[in-house]
Amino acid sequence: MTIDAQILSALRNAEDGSVSGGELSQRLGISRAAIWSRIEEMRSLGYEIEASPHEGYRLRNVPDVLHADDLLSRLGKTKVIGRDIRVFQETTSTNDVIEKLARDGVKEGVVVFAESQSKGRGRLGRKWVSPLRKGLWFSVLLRPDLRPQEAIQLMIAGATALARAIRDETGLSPEIKWPNDILINGRKVAGLLTELSAELDHVNYIILGIGVDVNLNASDFSSELRKLATSLKIEKGHSIDRASLAAAALRELDADYARITTGHFEAVSDEWEELCSTLGRNIGIRIGDRVLQGRAESLDSDGALLLRTQHGRLERIIGGDVTVKK
Ligand code: BTN
Repeated sequence: MTIDAQILSALRNAEDGSVSGGELSQRLGISRAAIWSRIEEMRSLGYEIEASPHEGYRLRNVPDVLHADDLLSRLGKTKVIGRDIRVFQETTSTNDVIEKLARDGVKEGVVVFAESQSKGRGRLGRKWVSPLRKGLWFSVLLRPDLRPQEAIQLMIAGATALARAIRDETGLSPEIKWPNDILINGRKVAGLLTELSAELDHVNYIILGIGVDVNLNASDFSSELRKLATSLKIEKGHSIDRASLAAAALRELDADYARITTGHFEAVSDEWEELCSTLGRNIGIRIGDRVLQGRAESLDSDGALLLRTQHGRLERIIGGDVTVKK
């Protein structure tokens, strides 16, 4: 962890809310003057840190900005995901940034956040609206030891982990629409875009791109989207702490990634099935020019959807656009 992340962690975890300069200096192995200069730097970013000669430093308020050190300090220790966090004010798409890092050989687990994206993209070539500081727009680099056909497991894990984080942070009840849309009260609040580089028999790397509409207002959506999309703020009636949700999402992703890489996908898919509003429903699914109709029965062991068609055949589906029938 960086010095700033360690200072923030110490302030957050302080028993009576404050820590003296002397204690910080001893714990971090740097001078009191160096601590002071880091505190000043954080104040300039909007962190309200009180200093008193008797009590030491106290964290009063944090700004609504994503800051890598703050995210690291909230996240604490993880196995893989979030060991390295980078925040950009603007990018084309965080998936593009991760792709470049992947090609440069950066280790798995790196996470890139952007406060806004100029070319955010969704599944099936759709545009993903990503306004400044209103959501969580981030991507994670993974290098799992999986066959390409097993890569869908990561989408399933990503959606499950994200739904759990949203539920725990907001008290709302998210549902998953296959494969990885997160809905609240029937409207989409988050989505995942998985991009893959693979050989025939193994995955080189996977980019898990996640978009969460956190603090968007109805006016931030176009009139067509307004019928289909929502935000956590709209559903809760107040703003949500983005940094806290981001840390929760990374923690849950790390836990589910560990389940997958240790051969426990079944535990993840059982949880996914409980959260999923598509299973057991009659659906239409568009795959390119084809539209299949049938009943969504279950997931198979790789995470593909098993669809019982009108003609009684069982089709294995790995991608497409689902419409749930009333
Ligand atoms: C979907 O539901 O269609 C997937 C949306 C994925 C959006 C996220 S935002 C961060 C990352 N960067 C992108 O350009 N897309 C994903």
